[in-house]
Amino acid sequence: MIDNLPKFFWKIHSGLPREGPGDNESTRKAYEMLKNLPEKPRILDVGCGPGMQTIELAKLSRGQIVALDFHKPFLEQLKETIQEEELTDIIKPVKGDMFNIEYSDGSFNVVWSEGAIYIIGFEKGLQEWRRLLASKGYVVVSELTWLRHDMPEEVNEYITHEYPAIKTLEENIEVVQKSGYRLLDSFVLPVKSWWDNYYGPIEAKLSSLKARYSDYEEAMQVITMHEIEIEMFRKYSDYYGYVFYVMQIE
Ligand SMILES: C[S@@+](CC[C@H](N)C(=O)[O-])C[C@H]1O[C@@H](n2cnc3c(N)ncnc32)[C@H](O)[C@@H]1O
Repeated sequence: MIDNLPKFFWKIHSGLPREGPGDNESTRKAYEMLKNLPEKPRILDVGCGPGMQTIELAKLSRGQIVALDFHKPFLEQLKETIQEEELTDIIKPVKGDMFNIEYSDGSFNVVWSEGAIYIIGFEKGLQEWRRLLASKGYVVVSELTWLRHDMPEEVNEYITHEYPAIKTLEENIEVVQKSGYRLLDSFVLPVKSWWDNYYGPIEAKLSSLKARYSDYEEAMQVITMHEIEIEMFRKYSDYYGYVFYVMQIE
């Protein structure tokens, strides 16, 4: 999917603090729900992007983290942060494909994925990544979820077009159980973290890019696509959001 994106997309999606909504407080809140981990837990961060959550996980766990992503520039950005934060002995950035994770069964105590499991699909990801877990292992993911059932037509149409697989919290909990996990807890990512770490930095870029690329149709299409996405969230953030699902294998 990443190969099909227009080139201009990467002008927006480079150098951002995150590649999806999230914040360190929520990463911490979810991590603190994981009990009886080994002293140095082995963690796989799938679709790590620039790795804000990877760095936080490294500080929280002091374990061994594999940060996996498909897109090399994100791994380069993460490598720089790892050096600055002196975490080279904790985090190993790895270029890899979440559809075909090349680690043997039972390799990790925790599989983590913020805002990225949608790429493989919530259900398929939970089912395929399960084998990677050691005994009593955990999976923690954040996933776009309907927060209400009475959504107006405009947002219903937009979101189901952009992400047809979106489900409600109750439906996702059923998927969790069906996939062989116990749900320890779930919570909604605060709206503020969409703005502070994702949409805010994107909006800041859009205004200058708009002035520079106003004569380029493809660029303007990508800009408009982002503006619509952001406007939808500004209007309808009560209706959908990212939900953290904290799970343990049965
Ligand atoms: C929405 S971003 C989330 C990034 C990061 N977890 C965050 O919250 O900032 C999704 C990430 O998945 C990565 N990705 C897309 N397809 C992938 C694949 N097949 N295998 C591994 N990573 C992939 C993208 O490069 C991107 O970094």
